[in-house]
Amino acid sequence: MEIDRRAFLASLGGAAVVDALSSEAKAEALEHYMSELLDAPLDAAADADDQLVPAPPEATVRRGVGSLFVPQGPPERRQMPALPPMPAKPTLVDFFNLRWAPANHVLQSATRALKTGMSEEVVLACLLHDVVQNLIKVDHGWWGAQLIRPYVSEKVAWAIQHHQALRFYPDPSVGYEYPELYVRIYGKDYEPPDYIRRTYEDARKHTWYMEARLITVNDLYAFERGVEVSLDPFIEIIGRHFKQPKEGLGYDNSPTAHMWRTMMFPDNPL
Ligand SMILES: [Fe+2]
Ligand SMILES: [Fe+2]
Repeated sequence: MEIDRRAFLASLGGAAVVDALSSEAKAEALEHYMSELLDAPLDAAADADDQLVPAPPEATVRRGVGSLFVPQGPPERRQMPALPPMPAKPTLVDFFNLRWAPANHVLQSATRALKTGMSEEVVLACLLHDVVQNLIKVDHGWWGAQLIRPYVSEKVAWAIQHHQALRFYPDPSVGYEYPELYVRIYGKDYEPPDYIRRTYEDARKHTWYMEARLITVNDLYAFERGVEVSLDPFIEIIGRHFKQPKEGLGYDNSPTAHMWRTMMFPDNPL
């Protein structure tokens, strides 16, 4: 995906606003910008570099708020869509279809993992690595891991937690280079904050390092416009590796049930 640097900076409120952001916040903003561009309708995306100038400086919401809570897409097309009701016992697939669609980026990422023969746990991790951005965007690696931890192996949750930090560090052994895009957007002196660097250094020594690393490998190639994606190839993998609670997600009294309910009912006032 081509990113227009000027449009991207404008989307954050201009160069002065961008200067005030931490490096990590800038990097987060870039990923969210690309995800939103990818999910925008194709005719809008065609010339979106000019059009996608969201969030004027006087915006009334924080940029770290989840996609379910703020209108997405080019400004003149932004609307808050009505949400379809969820079934009484919602499954992960229901969340994909009724709350996260089109979820293009995570589907592209998981499709690449599947096609390149990665393990089913890595495929699942890729499929779920950014879904929490519907709820909250800031520090999405940690939030994302927490959301799914009661339902997946600890390896999958760990990989998702650490992909956020690993994005900034190359690993030639799997052909992961520091994204050229980050150099273009943030300049060559970009320094991740200490907590990200420490998380990376700890992850590097961990047995599951490669699971988290492979998320970043698939992440990098999952921003192609106009790619047809579907959840169908992943239904069986979800069945084998995601412990669907019989009461339905949100109603199972797990430590994160409230997070699922919040995505189910984002319009509830309290
Ligand atoms: Fe991510
Ligand atoms: Fe991602």
